[in-house]
Amino acid sequence: MRGSHGWAEVSRERKRDIIEAIVANKPTRGPVHAELDLTDRCNVACYFCNQQDLRTKDSIPLPRLTDLIDELAEGGLKSVRLSGGGDPLFHRDVLNVMDHLASRNVIIDNVTTNGVALTNDVATRLVNGKAREVIFSLNAVDAADYARMMQVKPALFDKVLANIRNLVAARGDSIYPSIVVQFLIDRKNVNRIVDMYELGRSLHPDRIAINAVLEIPFERIDRSVILHLEDNLVAEPQIEEILRRDKEERLLQIDFPYPQWNEMLQRTRDRVGTVPHNNFPVAKSFKGENGGCFFAWYSAAITGNGDIRPCCLLLNPTVKPLGNVNDKPKFADHWNGPEFQLMRDEMREVLLMKSRKPYTPQRFKILKEQCVAPHMCYLKTMYFQGDEEFYAELDTALTKMREKEIRYVFGNNTKRKRAIELYVQEHPRAKRAWDWFRENTRPARVFLKQRLGVDLTDAV
Ligand SMILES: C[S@@+](CC[C@H](N)C(=O)[O-])C[C@H]1O[C@@H](n2cnc3c(N)ncnc32)[C@H](O)[C@@H]1O
Ligand code: SF4
Ligand code: SF4
Repeated sequence: MRGSHGWAEVSRERKRDIIEAIVANKPTRGPVHAELDLTDRCNVACYFCNQQDLRTKDSIPLPRLTDLIDELAEGGLKSVRLSGGGDPLFHRDVLNVMDHLASRNVIIDNVTTNGVALTNDVATRLVNGKAREVIFSLNAVDAADYARMMQVKPALFDKVLANIRNLVAARGDSIYPSIVVQFLIDRKNVNRIVDMYELGRSLHPDRIAINAVLEIPFERIDRSVILHLEDNLVAEPQIEEILRRDKEERLLQIDFPYPQWNEMLQRTRDRVGTVPHNNFPVAKSFKGENGGCFFAWYSAAITGNGDIRPCCLLLNPTVKPLGNVNDKPKFADHWNGPEFQLMRDEMREVLLMKSRKPYTPQRFKILKEQCVAPHMCYLKTMYFQGDEEFYAELDTALTKMREKEIRYVFGNNTKRKRAIELYVQEHPRAKRAWDWFRENTRPARVFLKQRLGVDLTDAV
């Protein structure tokens, strides 16, 4: 069993509610899955931490958390991810939170943690509560690398290793929780990839994730430490070696943020004669045109200072929160409020337009480019795209919705505009012609707008 962003816990009926709410352009009765970032405080200080620009010293106090969990559970919450702006296990009442979630039958779908505070008590609750997945962000390959990356005393590295072994032992033969050990590579440890794999393997996890340190907003990371394209020459022979070693084990989950690195990975896989083992399946009924994000009907992320955000990938300072759980007595006031509705309007438009609506900040007040353009955000489909029945039903619903709401004839201005825009986006020649038209016929467009009220000025 592995984390599914909560999808494995959602009933057929609830999935239909989501589809119906998309079509009707209304809220569902509440999130089915939530990311609860219990605290913004952390017990280490990773140089690369992508949360540092949002970091406060706040935690959601236990009484607010229990009220919130109660309200969300009554609205049908089935699972949570515990991750964070800080480390979720560093919340002083984390054991009580876990107990409260269990008392409301809310499954812990995922815990993402540095593992420093994964004590015996936490391990017991994770195993007994059948938590689906624990990701240990070990990141470093040895104590010295740990001290460099996490900016703490090197001895903490051994403590984390002991905590990983302890959880593996506490789990015994159970499949819960699935355990992932994550490493992050940068220029200082890129020559240690084989050691990372061996260390990971010695800990007996279900998966070993090897990722790259990524840039974060505001250029906080010294760019000379982040991988450069040419570092793949150093990485390639090591990756070949670990792919060989992993042929039987099938533990590796490896993917890079750079196309050239992924090409190198594919070449190396072909040489070794292996395929990615830990990819998520794709259902026959899944179509790219229906692969828009539906989080606004499904999920929410609540951070340590109470801010509500669309998801864990939009936890950055360029994204305005959708509200704060401390501002209104009920979470439902946010879920049914104007900010969430605006996000739903924007996501619905993307779904309606087959993910072909071009992104501009003027058109999208809440969504970012990765939410609108296809293939830029893995999270919007990765966990769901294997669901044959859901995507078949969504396809039927969206097809009907498009027939009604995208029309050249018998349509109002909005429907006509959508029809023209979609046609242009789906036909490269028409798009080129349209670009030429836009470039060269401004007076004609102004005429159309002023005399006939047909506004084509932002149709592409
Ligand atoms: C922000 S952390 C929060 C949870 C917890 N404190 C932890 O570190 O696991 C979530 C995940 O993002 C990863 N992460 C943070 N900054 C990153 C960066 N700049 N590049 C790549 N991964 C990063 C962490 O290693 C961790 O796996
Ligand atoms: S452990 Fe997680 S939250 Fe803490 S500094 Fe590192 S990446 Fe950030
Ligand atoms: S598309 Fe991706 S980044 Fe945007 S809201 Fe959905 S999951 Fe988050």
